[in-house]
Amino acid sequence: MSIVATMRSPQVMKVLDRLYADAELDDSRRPSVPENATAQQRADAMAEVYLPISPQGGDLLYALVRNGKPETVVEFGTSFGVSTLFLAAAVTDNGTGHVYGTEMSAAKIAAARSNVDEAGVGEVVTILEGDATQTLAELPGPIGFVLLDGWKDLYVPVLRGLEPRLAPGALVVADNTSFATVAGYLDYVREPANGYVNASFPTGDGMEISCWTGRS
Ligand SMILES: C[S@@+](CC[C@H](N)C(=O)[O-])C[C@H]1O[C@@H](n2cnc3c(N)ncnc32)[C@H](O)[C@@H]1O
Repeated sequence: MSIVATMRSPQVMKVLDRLYADAELDDSRRPSVPENATAQQRADAMAEVYLPISPQGGDLLYALVRNGKPETVVEFGTSFGVSTLFLAAAVTDNGTGHVYGTEMSAAKIAAARSNVDEAGVGEVVTILEGDATQTLAELPGPIGFVLLDGWKDLYVPVLRGLEPRLAPGALVVADNTSFATVAGYLDYVREPANGYVNASFPTGDGMEISCWTGRS
């Protein structure tokens, strides 16, 4: 085994550094999107905008996946693959598991595949093309880890669709929890009857970690 973890390897760090530097231009590239736009229209309009997870949030994802050693990791919202790189580095360093990303912008899918390949972790990543509410329906369980980082109004439907396949003890990490648009999701996971035990982390725009207790 290498003494440099994949996460801190020059091959991964070079790609991450480049992606974070390019993402600095997000504000200048962000288009105005009509409020009634569909998820696909929003994805197409935002095809050049990264909206990446924070570096600290990425390190948290790496640590959680290293510790839990999940066989199946689901990522709702891949974009250019920044969060995918943290998840895939953890799976690679675990020596077991696979990351299933989801993305509906064709341009971003191509870019994310190229980025994970360049970083040397492409073997443990599959990016499902299309609307995650549909592409994730066929993914077999048990699912041990979920990152929610797609469009915020879809956090609840995506999670509810995955619930029958979540492993007891699975971790669900939602990004951008300080956004008003995530309030409904927080209400859902924080309702004890829904089967989660939660903790908030002040990384980036806020993250909520929810442990699936395995209620049936
Ligand atoms: C906030 S960005 C994801 C950032 C990414 N996790 C990272 O750290 O770089 C949200 C992404 O989710 C994608 N997305 C939103 N809704 C989706 C859906 N229903 N199915 C698949 N992808 C979706 C968008 O196209 C967008 O690229």
